[in-house]
Amino acid sequence: MLDPAPRLGDRSLFPTLRARAYLNHAAISPASTRVQAAVSELVADYAARGVEALFPQLEQRERLRGQLAELVGAHREEIGYVANTTAGVRAVALCVPWSAGDTVVLLRGEFPANVTPWQRAAELFDLRLRWLEVSDFHGSAGDGLARLEAVLREGVRLVAVSAVQFQTGLRMPLEEIGALCRAHGAELFVDGIQGCGATPIDVATAHIDYLSCGSHKWLMGLEGLAFLYVRAERAAVLRPVVAGWLSHEEGLRFLFEGAGHLRYDRPIRARADLVEGGAMPGTVLLALDASLGLLHQLTVPAIFEHLQAYHDRLEPGLRQRGFASERSPVRAQRSGILSVLPPKDVELAPLHAALGRRGISCSMPDGRLRFAPHWPNALTETDEVLTAIDEALAELRGG
Ligand SMILES: Cc1ncc(COP(=O)(O)O)c(C=O)c1O
Repeated sequence: MLDPAPRLGDRSLFPTLRARAYLNHAAISPASTRVQAAVSELVADYAARGVEALFPQLEQRERLRGQLAELVGAHREEIGYVANTTAGVRAVALCVPWSAGDTVVLLRGEFPANVTPWQRAAELFDLRLRWLEVSDFHGSAGDGLARLEAVLREGVRLVAVSAVQFQTGLRMPLEEIGALCRAHGAELFVDGIQGCGATPIDVATAHIDYLSCGSHKWLMGLEGLAFLYVRAERAAVLRPVVAGWLSHEEGLRFLFEGAGHLRYDRPIRARADLVEGGAMPGTVLLALDASLGLLHQLTVPAIFEHLQAYHDRLEPGLRQRGFASERSPVRAQRSGILSVLPPKDVELAPLHAALGRRGISCSMPDGRLRFAPHWPNALTETDEVLTAIDEALAELRGG
């Protein structure tokens, strides 16, 4: 029987999902029936046909590349596949043709995936790190932008920032950041994993040079895959430090065209896909294809509106109960994440555990209670979440 079509607020495609309210898409998304079917069909195909099962996937990967490009407003040849968000950050950090003394701007408060590789690159290539504070971008974001501009005036090679902050859900003003970077000749790297799939992102309007995004959060795929966008003119000058046997132009000829084609001097592709150095996770690529198909049907702007409607219902109830919301009052700075700090007399970890016992799956990064619904979460579910919170608070207060 054919699965039902996806509908906002309808979790029919997640029939075995246990949580009453699954609010952990900023951590790991559950697998839809479409994702499960894609994975099991491929495994069955490998069982039946071995290597033959690979060939149809090669076309599928190119189609998916085009869809990922469309998702962020890029061109197909500007997209490469890597194992996770970090691998995308690392590839760029290793491959940019740095000069000793180049400055990289990082933000304190970011998820470490977008920090550690730059720190390592700074050691390797003798780069300078300049730190700004994520907190300066809260409120009007004007402080953060003014500080960024002051640093850019001193000369910066690259700015690394997340599209959406993992703990507060703050959506960064990428267009303003991108415009400043462009005006001052700096490159812009974006960790897109907390944004892509639920928050519109366009690499062209935001002047983004590189964007890395894992597939297991808002794209609703599985772990083990990310896409890396590299603007074409940047890819042309990258040093292919991370290249492997599958990064060469025409690098497969020796396998299919007989003798005389095994060579080690074929040029490395000067495109984003130079990062694809070896065999790829076929099942996870098909999973992403399936989940992205659903997002495509629903459209990211509609999903974003749905998530805002969900948070518009949940946030006032949380405030009434003494939680301090970290959701920005500015709409342009909102995302799929609603994070709150608990009332002063309530400890976070026991509260999180008490909610878990009541079927509310959320997380507690960096001292916040983080609610991250996605398109299958029904708006009416917020009543159940608030009831569970009342019960959990009563339990913790000994009521
Ligand atoms: C902002 C951000 N970047 C990156 C990651 C994860 O990176 P990776 O895909 O390398 O595991 C997370 C969460 O796990 C995150 O919240």
